Amino acid sequence: MAQLPWIERWYDLRDRLTASRAFQRWAAAFPLTRPIARRRARELFELVAGFVHSQVLAACVKLRLFDLLAAGPMSSADISRRIGLPLDRTERLLAAAIALRLVQPRGKDRFGLGVLGAPMVGNTGIAAMVEHHDALYFDLRDPLALLQGQSTDRALAGYWPYAEHKGLDALPAERVRAYSALMSASQPLVGDEVVASYDLSRHRCLLDVGGGDGTFLSIVAKAAPDLRLHLFDLPQVASVARQRLLAEGLATRCNVSGGSFFDDALPKGADVASLVRVIFDHPDERALQILKAVHAALPVGGTLLLAEPMAAADGTSGSSDAYFDFYLMAMGRGRLRSPQALMQLLSQAGFDNARVVPTHMPLNTGLILAQATAVKPAGYLGKNPNREV
Ligand SMILES: C[S@@+](CC[C@H](N)C(=O)[O-])C[C@H]1O[C@@H](n2cnc3c(N)ncnc32)[C@H](O)[C@@H]1O
Repeated sequence: MAQLPWIERWYDLRDRLTASRAFQRWAAAFPLTRPIARRRARELFELVAGFVHSQVLAACVKLRLFDLLAAGPMSSADISRRIGLPLDRTERLLAAAIALRLVQPRGKDRFGLGVLGAPMVGNTGIAAMVEHHDALYFDLRDPLALLQGQSTDRALAGYWPYAEHKGLDALPAERVRAYSALMSASQPLVGDEVVASYDLSRHRCLLDVGGGDGTFLSIVAKAAPDLRLHLFDLPQVASVARQRLLAEGLATRCNVSGGSFFDDALPKGADVASLVRVIFDHPDERALQILKAVHAALPVGGTLLLAEPMAAADGTSGSSDAYFDFYLMAMGRGRLRSPQALMQLLSQAGFDNARVVPTHMPLNTGLILAQATAVKPAGYLGKNPNREV
């Protein structure tokens, strides 16, 4: 029988040892292995306790505790009065928040922001994500049903009504408001990364496809003051964007078009197009359709900018990969992709020169640029002219 490579034999030995209760006891007692044993136990405990930790954070966010403490440290009695919880429950919440470094004790019965609580102050993006997790956790209550595709009564699918690709024309305007507001609140986490990583002022006109309520274009408008802007989204979302961009004083620089990128031709005239947090919502065949539609709208040599969280090629980028992919599974038919998987789709859709541009915070977004080739890919179906809103 062929011998296993040494690395396989090492993994096998490691697994047998770390699964053994006797070895665990020995490793915890022996001074040289004790730090490793403690670290592993802590890491595993983080996984066991993760849901509870998230809910402590959710309670702090819903009670606006961070904004309250931003004014300065307070006593537990004052906090209890301001957040409307009985004193003993306030003290227990504070104890949990201290353990998670969201709150920091500041002397006898005084509490201020902790190192992880301070960045939450005024961070409407993270707070909005945390608050809408009620829907995610509802869907994850039975993870096996989710994995087997047998979940009934799904909350996130209702929150993202376009995810199943059905009935988009008849979507009532109020069904797009909640997700558009969430995207707008969290957009600066992404948009700031994009404009810091790529200079859009070298272009003439940007078409933002699936551009939501226009928050990304507002960020770009400040970074590239001479760039013309064009937003495309579902008609119900495009109307929200139009109002927002008007209110921002961008009417003279900006066009807004409504339609579906599965059925309608995208507006032409831009030399750069962006897909920001769009492709990961969709399965491969749909993602390819969107990329082909963008290709058809761009001139030869036009640039595509694709920004969204991306998986590490070997799945090792940690808990964010697990979070995003399970989120997208609960939402509908999307998936988290590695840069390599995205570049393969881009090549199938007729783009070349695809390259990853490093961002400061890959957790918020990855970034890929590619150029439209002269070859129009087969299977593109932009049937209808786009509808202006
Ligand atoms: C996850 S949101 C991202 C919004 C924005 N790009 C951002 O990052 O804040 C995806 C966007 O794609 C839009 N969208 C979904 N299906 C669409 C379709 N068939 N045609 C056009 N836009 C669509 C949604 O309305 C939504 O605004």
